[in-house]
Amino acid sequence: GAAVEADISGLKPGEKMTVEWRGKPVWIVRRTPEMLEGLKKTEPLVADPASERKPSELTPEYARNAHRSIKPEYLVAVGICTHLGCSPSDKFATGAQPSLPGDWQGGFLCPCHGSTFDMAGRVFKNVPAPDNLEVPPHMYLSDAKLLIG
Ligand code: FES
Repeated sequence: GAAVEADISGLKPGEKMTVEWRGKPVWIVRRTPEMLEGLKKTEPLVADPASERKPSELTPEYARNAHRSIKPEYLVAVGICTHLGCSPSDKFATGAQPSLPGDWQGGFLCPCHGSTFDMAGRVFKNVPAPDNLEVPPHMYLSDAKLLIG
């Protein structure tokens, strides 16, 4: 399928936008410094912190780092759960939430079987989903324009 261009100039810190690529939702999240800081806390809790599993399918080389992205501020990930393909919801707020650990750092929760992912789309240990969310191939055409695919 064709590559898709996304204009990210209007995206504010803490916000997410979705674009469609090859029939899949691709999320672009502009992470705040607090969200990035939270990744250090989730690192020991996630199953594949360095994105070593299925690298050719799930994580391009330029995203195999602690924030799983080219620019730390922006997460680009396919919004489809790696368990059975449901669409996880945003759970960005920190603090206690009924279905989440009390020290929740923000991330995504799949409503189907409760898999959780951190703000880099890294899957937590001991949930049904086996893998991190897919980071699609992408590049920046400028500060405001992202090319996905
Ligand atoms: Fe997401 Fe099962 S499809 S947890």
